[in-house]
Amino acid sequence: MTSLKDDVLAALGKIPSPEGAPLPATGKLSDIVAADGKVFFSITVDAATVKQWETVRAQAEAAIRALPDVKSVMVALTAERAGGGAAPRPQVPPPAARQRASGAPGAGAAPSPAGIPGVGAIIAVASGKGGVGKSTTAVNLALGLRDLGLKVGILDADIYGPSMPKLLAIREKPETIGGTRLKPIVRHGMPVMSIGFLIEEETPMIWRGPMVMSALTQMLREVEWGVLDLMVVDMPPGTGDAQLTMAQQVPLKGAVIVSTPQDLALIDARRGIAMFRRVNVPVLGIVENMSTFICPHCGTRSDIFGHGGARHEAERLGVPFLGEVPLDMAIREKSDAGQPVVASAPDGPLAQCYRDIAARVRDGLAGATRQAPKIVIEA
Ligand SMILES: Nc1ncnc2c1ncn2[C@@H]1O[C@H](COP(=O)(O)OP(=O)(O)O)[C@@H](O)[C@H]1O
Ligand SMILES: [Mg+2]
Repeated sequence: MTSLKDDVLAALGKIPSPEGAPLPATGKLSDIVAADGKVFFSITVDAATVKQWETVRAQAEAAIRALPDVKSVMVALTAERAGGGAAPRPQVPPPAARQRASGAPGAGAAPSPAGIPGVGAIIAVASGKGGVGKSTTAVNLALGLRDLGLKVGILDADIYGPSMPKLLAIREKPETIGGTRLKPIVRHGMPVMSIGFLIEEETPMIWRGPMVMSALTQMLREVEWGVLDLMVVDMPPGTGDAQLTMAQQVPLKGAVIVSTPQDLALIDARRGIAMFRRVNVPVLGIVENMSTFICPHCGTRSDIFGHGGARHEAERLGVPFLGEVPLDMAIREKSDAGQPVVASAPDGPLAQCYRDIAARVRDGLAGATRQAPKIVIEA
């Protein structure tokens, strides 16, 4: 008995590429996911040849749909700019970045993915595990950077729990422009795209993985981001294959790691740092979230999860400490209401706290270039 995947490969073998080679022999196909009658894969081609390939994509989809036992099929066509993954530089400078040091991504390092035309720099906000306040930090950090006078966009790439629709109270779907490119949703003066706009919440996890890679490429390269100094990416939590692939696929200028102060969370943060170092993305620093709790009634400080752990860890690992955000009811309430605290209470101490972190991130970026591999820390 042959597997569904074998049947798919056999069907694809009868379809020629624009150059005439059987599809599976072109080296352009992603891994083929075939389970429970559902088939998914992507074809990555040079941007100049997309038109010819669109016909091939449609043929492939039709051929697979005709197979017995196939209930649904999705073949995604992903365009790569000329030179593909090996092209280390953005195609269309000049970024809006004003005081950015010239350190071009990819300089003197391993090949890095091509940049996004018009986008000065992309930074990841990441955490070793979920629930530490990564998304809350990402959105408030983005607003803080905006307050510093930068043009900022937000990309929510968290497949496990896209948060931007909720954090920014976005219910509408993005419109397409000319049927191919997507218009981001604008909130607080920032263009926003979320994986939550593109993938239904009920989509099973097994599907999300591969879909996400093509959705991510789409969100980066087929969205009218306009001219931005900075794009803040809310990454999926964890340090597994999905995260590693994303860290490699997005042309990152740096990463911000969010952790709570407990030892356990810090172990995960350490893994996160090791992951970014492995793919030569500079770690801009660690944020300690849910640090000291200040009682809203009596003003007493208490360190519910401990305090200062992330600062020590940062020192130990030789990465900057970016600041601490207190555990504060207002942060949670405002977040849940779709009004991040930096936007809704810009004059308060919490907003200032995020702006201070934003300033350190901006300064760190000015010095950051993609580095040669450093020590990989064993977590
Ligand atoms: N500093 C903080 N003080 C109080 N609540 C917080 C703080 N940071 C995050 N939260 C709350 O914790 C929960 C998880 O935060 P979230 O940003 O969604 O985490 P993650 O993206 O890491 O899963 C949310 O309900 C959020 O409002
Ligand atoms: Mg989140």
